[in-house]
Amino acid sequence: MDKYRITGGKLLSGEISVSGSKNSALAVLPAAMLISGKVKINNVPRLKDVDFMLKVLESLGVKYSFSNNSVEIDSRYLNNHVAAYDLIRKMRASIYVLSPLLHRFKKAEVSLPGGCAIGIRPVDLHIKGLRELGVEVQIEHGYIEAKLSKMKGKEVYLDFPSVGATCQLIIAGTLAEGRTVIFNAAKEPEIEDLGNFLNKAGAKISGLGSDEIVIDGVDSLHETEYSIIPDRIESGSFTILGAALSENLVVKNVIPGHIESLIDKLQESGAVISQGKNTLQIKKAVKPSGINIKTLPYPGFPTDLQAPIMAYLSVAEGFSVIKETIFENRFHHIPELNRLGADINTEGEAAYIKGVEVLEGAQVMASDLRGGFCLVLAGLIAGSETIINRIYHIDRGYEDLETKLQNIGAAITRIE
Ligand code: EPZ
Repeated sequence: MDKYRITGGKLLSGEISVSGSKNSALAVLPAAMLISGKVKINNVPRLKDVDFMLKVLESLGVKYSFSNNSVEIDSRYLNNHVAAYDLIRKMRASIYVLSPLLHRFKKAEVSLPGGCAIGIRPVDLHIKGLRELGVEVQIEHGYIEAKLSKMKGKEVYLDFPSVGATCQLIIAGTLAEGRTVIFNAAKEPEIEDLGNFLNKAGAKISGLGSDEIVIDGVDSLHETEYSIIPDRIESGSFTILGAALSENLVVKNVIPGHIESLIDKLQESGAVISQGKNTLQIKKAVKPSGINIKTLPYPGFPTDLQAPIMAYLSVAEGFSVIKETIFENRFHHIPELNRLGADINTEGEAAYIKGVEVLEGAQVMASDLRGGFCLVLAGLIAGSETIINRIYHIDRGYEDLETKLQNIGAAITRIE
């Protein structure tokens, strides 16, 4: 398994570009199955998770080509309504194929996604919403067995503003009969991106970005071409890196409005951040100060940046408290940060960080995607050498990471 070797302890500077949004692509690609024709999606990041989603679609009969960050999809030859366990268990977003399969075949068998390192991650809200739209769902032998005669739009209330359930129900409502209204919907930019894509193909969706999304079902969608938004979490990850290690870092292909909560927190901690139309310029504080953070649904502080900002706060002045309110088990990076010399304790959903003077390189192990980036940043902060094991987690969500970091002066190499 590949590893990273990092020699840290020095300032970085220059320009770093953000790729297309992983979490938008993972919703838009299955949604494209609603279109019985050719669809071209641009600015798709070349990531393990994207390659995997394309393999899932291919197993259902979708034909695709992927070159220069553009994917061409043709769903005219769908021939299989069963999404198998050994595919779904590796990536939970595969659950998004459920609604397109139901519209195409009036039935679907999709394996229940497994949990993962950060929590059990149930899909009860997906299923509850689909049942309200008229889908008959049984859970048998670890599979979701769904069938329907006609999907009818309805008012659906989400107990929690789940990103996944909101995406699932937008996809379902697009071709349902009549009006679907999702109350307490998630407001993440990736939801807006999915809805904008479907509207460009002829859907009638409004309220995107608010907590009340209205979908007026249409009979069919037409072929289209669409470009994915920049990755909000990659943008945030690089902005945190700049606030930790740079006196002049320019992050390009950013939508600053998508990471306002992060920018505000880093400025509170002393970083100087100026916004361009689609760039951010970051200058680190002489000594960043500790701050308190609570992860929340968008536009609150994103749970996906909880691990990356913890690396930054591990060497800030004084105390910081981070409360993780979205996932029940998203602190796997803490023992690894402590191996690098950090001083962090947890109690329930809270992590208590006592800033230390320096971090020292060590052997560490990534357990999940964003925790992996946290360790890369900690390795760049630490003096001497850090080896990060299991970096396949990082390859899931950061395109060409070592090349992008080498281009701003980081001493990071991949060891096969
Ligand atoms: C999406 O996951 C993202 N993944 C996650 O990013 C992100 O952390 C998460 O949203 C929150 O922003 C993709 O978009 C592919 P949720 P998702 O449904 O859809 C509970 C990354 O690093 N819940 O909003 O699974 C769930 O257990 C990944 O890029 C239910 O209880 O998130 C969790 O505690 C990690 N029942 C909370 O809601 C359900 O039916 C948030 O889950 C669904 C969710």
